[in-house]
Amino acid sequence: MITGLAHLAIAVPDLERAIRRFSDDFGLTYSGCEEVQSAQTSTAFFPLPATHIELVYPLHNSGPIRKYLDRQGRGGLHHICFSSDDIEADVERLRALDYEFLSAEPQTGAHGSRVIFIHPRSCDGVLVELTQPANSVPVDDTT
Ligand code: CO
Repeated sequence: MITGLAHLAIAVPDLERAIRRFSDDFGLTYSGCEEVQSAQTSTAFFPLPATHIELVYPLHNSGPIRKYLDRQGRGGLHHICFSSDDIEADVERLRALDYEFLSAEPQTGAHGSRVIFIHPRSCDGVLVELTQPANSVPVDDTT
């Protein structure tokens, strides 16, 4: 029986730089690195709470997932997504660290969430999404 998502693995050309990205820039907890002789890798770990698998299929047969499928000629792992409790602040902080985003502002995603994507160029070729769930969006009392 499949019981959970154990990990996602990202191949990185510079391990120290990638560890700094995930710990310092993204704020995840680094739990250490292990030399796995059988896989011939140095493997760094960042434990996270339980997550979801998201299957994405092109709505109206158009949009970025349609383009991705056409380009790949098959399906594939498309992006990883981190939760944020203040997406505007995280975008501002990461922009100041020279992270490139695919849009100027967060947009509305699934379940009324706010979402924005970091360009794969900023993250060793991995498309990274940030999401702030609708129930944690601060109430806008100016309207
Ligand atoms: Co997503």
